[in-house]
Amino acid sequence: MSSYHSKTGLFAPQPAKVAQVAHSHPVPLPPDVPVDALLRLEGVHTHIGAYHILHGVDLVVPRGQLTMLLGRNGAGKTTTLRTIMGLWQASQGRVVFNGQDITREHTPDIAGRNIAYVPENMGIFADLTVRENMLLAARQAKRANQMDEARLQWIFKLFPAVEKFWLHPAGKLSGGQKQMLAVSRAIVEPRDLLIFDEPSKGLAPVMINNMIDAFQQLKHSGTTILLVEQNINFAKRLGDTVAVMDDGRVVHAGSMQALAQDEALQRSLLGLAL
Ligand SMILES: Nc1ncnc2c1ncn2[C@@H]1O[C@H](COP(=O)(O)OP(=O)(O)OP(=O)(O)O)[C@@H](O)[C@H]1O
Ligand SMILES: [Mg+2]
Repeated sequence: MSSYHSKTGLFAPQPAKVAQVAHSHPVPLPPDVPVDALLRLEGVHTHIGAYHILHGVDLVVPRGQLTMLLGRNGAGKTTTLRTIMGLWQASQGRVVFNGQDITREHTPDIAGRNIAYVPENMGIFADLTVRENMLLAARQAKRANQMDEARLQWIFKLFPAVEKFWLHPAGKLSGGQKQMLAVSRAIVEPRDLLIFDEPSKGLAPVMINNMIDAFQQLKHSGTTILLVEQNINFAKRLGDTVAVMDDGRVVHAGSMQALAQDEALQRSLLGLAL
């Protein structure tokens, strides 16, 4: 496994609206072949209060693949995820999951379609133990001993800290360990779609490699994943498909490999080379 270099692996911070990429650059469209989309956004607009944030997002998440959603700070990535989950209501356009229009559904019903969403702030319960946090995320199990033991052992292997602090309050974990717990909660049972918002944010390099390993295993299990990232090394090593957002729109979609090989395109879309 190649090592991660934090100095080169992260986007340089820069103001969201400075670079003139989005609309001057020709937008390569996804390949014109039928895609088996588990999730599809069609012309999604989202307003937050008086602010018009998403301006017609088109996004395809192919079944069984890992789709990276990239873009500068403020591009609209988190707003897109929240709109998918019904935490913001799309004012126009459609969100289609497994062939069904979920645009107007409420968040619990969307989650009930066997989707797990790990937000940026991770959504763990600090006062509860690691075990209780896992149990609450397990929709099938009513008691801790009903959680799937083989799956728990797999999670403990992926993230040893989860086992080590099993009976400790989650609030006592380090930031990185909390992120591991948040990811563990999302995978405590098999889900049809996993959505993560910057799971590598703030992690030490060794933990990033640990997280990459975990996602690689999830990928190989055939789970469909939508992953927002700022860490380009993470994106390069994991992504099958990629969508790049800018200014509330998807301005590029295609294969991760093609973008990883095209430095000029990376620079124009993201302001750096992979
Ligand atoms: N609650 C809110 N109220 C008003 N504006 C908001 C709110 N949340 C987000 N925005 C604005 O919407 C735009 C998109 O924000 P969003 O958080 O979706 O971007 P992002 O791509 O996830 O950025 P980052 O990489 O910093 O996480 C930004 O201009 C942001 O300031
Ligand atoms: Mg965000």
